[in-house]
Amino acid sequence: MSAVSPDQATLILGGNEYQFPVTEGSEGERAIDIGDLRAKTGHITLDPGYGNTGSCESAITFIDGEQGILRYRGIPIEQFASSPTFTEVAWLLISGKLPTPSEYAVFSEDLTRYSFLDEGMKHQFEGFPRAAPPMAILSAMINSLSCFHPELHELEDETQFNHAAARLISKIRTIAAYAFRHSRGLPYIYPDPALRYVPNFLHMMFSQPYRQYVCPQMVRDALNLILILHADHEQNCSTSTVRMVGSSGANLFASCASGVCALWGPLHGGANVEVLNMLHQIHDGNITPEEYVRLAKDKDSKVRLMGFGHRVYKNFDPRAKMLGAIAEKLLPQLSANDPLLNIARRLEEIALSDPYFIERKLYPNVDFYSGILLRAIGIPTNMFTVIFAIGRLPGWIAHWWEQNRTMANKIARPRQIYTGETHRDYIPMDQRSE
Ligand code: ACO
Repeated sequence: MSAVSPDQATLILGGNEYQFPVTEGSEGERAIDIGDLRAKTGHITLDPGYGNTGSCESAITFIDGEQGILRYRGIPIEQFASSPTFTEVAWLLISGKLPTPSEYAVFSEDLTRYSFLDEGMKHQFEGFPRAAPPMAILSAMINSLSCFHPELHELEDETQFNHAAARLISKIRTIAAYAFRHSRGLPYIYPDPALRYVPNFLHMMFSQPYRQYVCPQMVRDALNLILILHADHEQNCSTSTVRMVGSSGANLFASCASGVCALWGPLHGGANVEVLNMLHQIHDGNITPEEYVRLAKDKDSKVRLMGFGHRVYKNFDPRAKMLGAIAEKLLPQLSANDPLLNIARRLEEIALSDPYFIERKLYPNVDFYSGILLRAIGIPTNMFTVIFAIGRLPGWIAHWWEQNRTMANKIARPRQIYTGETHRDYIPMDQRSE
């Protein structure tokens, strides 16, 4: 809960003066509480893009973009660099505390137990064209999952919620891998109960019926970290969508399926795909990284250096710092001769020492490194945003549950400033001119 500050905000409007309380979060972020603005003044606020609007109070993730700080449930993201698994972080986000060894064992066991899809669901993949975008399949299949688990539509208590959360976190990876296999016309590979979360996903992606994929430790570690670093980012577009849909009383599956749709867009989860498109463009267009950076600085060119800059972080994005360190270690071992990765390294080198980027505080963002790392570990470009969705799912679930418990029955319903036609009459068809 936020604390009420002794300060008050005063609004002077039409000769009248109105007072509004100021509230303060646990990290000192302050907000003017305008909950009764319309009732008191007849006015609403207008804030397209919600850059100045707090939609909720939340205790899950803290970001300070000026300082380059990101914390999950209070723990700085840097502390997740080496030891924890993605499933441990998922538990932390959802339950609010680190799991004890026995809680972790039960959760891991649930993730293994729930990883299979109903055979009826498996056949649904056949209905999609081979070229179907995997994000479309993912969203449709998460919704479809709800049909197979009607008992989880109404979550009465925390135990039921935990079952639903574990099912989703486990099965999203099976759905993602099957979507990929379907796009390639490959046989589906069943989850292997002996494998942990990340290697199991890679096994379903890359094993063949006649040859088991052997997951190198460095690939497992890199994907584990990518998932952890994408696990939550407070009220971003997809998370806000999940909360918005959930506020109508929609079940957890339907709400998370809507999050996938929001994440699909190139301004959100699709940015790391754009990084790869840029690298291809440089490679295939035979222009040098130096020339591309020159174009990115030229305001008339409309070219941007994809994977650089961030709306919130005006300092180094802490996630990019961590992925950059991993990329430096892994890329020479995984794909020393990939021309696209060589271009990426050169772009980074040029931009980080160029005054244009330094003065504007344009650092590589998380998408720059996740794109090149995912490519290096063999993930096809059309699956990049799907990987982001697997990572972001625990965040969506945590926000859905937090909202469910704290804002039950309060539907999210913004208002608008209407700018259309004023009152006019219907004209019958035979009296309308062409
Ligand atoms: N390449 C070249 N110039 C850039 C770039 C870039 N990638 N990003 C910003 N600039 C320049 C702008 O032209 C502007 O210059 P000016 O002051 O001379 O006019 C200045 O830097 C500030 O740019 P804004 O667009 O105002 O910065 P904002 O913070 O609003 O935008 C954004 C952030 C959208 C991410 C931007 O940096 C960008 O387009 N980056 C490339 C796309 C990208 O990587 N997106 C992924 C972001 S991470 C995520 O969403 C998960």
